[in-house]
Amino acid sequence: MEILPATLRDLGPLRHIERACFPRDAWPLLDLIAVLTWPDVARFKAVEDGRMIGFIAGDTRRMEGMAWIATVAVLPEYRRRGIGRTLLHECEKWLAVSRIRLCVRMENTGAIQLYESEGYQRVDIWRQYYNDGGDALVMEKNRD
Ligand SMILES: CC(C)(COP(=O)(O)OP(=O)(O)OC[C@H]1O[C@@H](n2cnc3c(N)ncnc32)[C@H](O)[C@@H]1OP(=O)(O)O)[C@@H](O)C(=O)NCCC(=O)NCCS
Repeated sequence: MEILPATLRDLGPLRHIERACFPRDAWPLLDLIAVLTWPDVARFKAVEDGRMIGFIAGDTRRMEGMAWIATVAVLPEYRRRGIGRTLLHECEKWLAVSRIRLCVRMENTGAIQLYESEGYQRVDIWRQYYNDGGDALVMEKNRD
């Protein structure tokens, strides 16, 4: 498995990953194009045997003094092999501020466990953040 920068050429496989990993919240096509093209977005893919099997993106918002991880996903059949954690490490390296935030569904205990083990703490809850009314947990890591 290797971690490589993602580009617009990865749009097709990214769409597949989104649908497989976020059945309720898959981003629309325009958002996927944006995340693969906007400047100042750190975006990486995990590739095994030539197949894109995971993706992460994050961006630094200097005005807010923090960075946000926008998405992280690994195809179901490749999970629990450390790929999500490796993607997180790579993305964090490229984020140029000490505070990093992300949000995650309250009931997504697997992802929350990963983030807590990487030093993210619970800082807020956004009620009814998701389209289906689900709440989001906001987590933050401070690397100072
Ligand atoms: C969250 C996600 C990216 C994790 O990817 P992954 O490659 O399986 O993660 P890792 O193998 O690096 O897991 C690292 C640790 O996180 C924790 N973890 C990950 N998934 C877990 C699960 N389903 N249940 C419990 N703990 C879990 C474990 O502590 C794990 O370490 P271990 O396997 O040694 O016990 C993946 O499950 C996924 O794509 N889920 C769907 C999309 C999603 O929810 N993304 C996050 C949205 S904020």
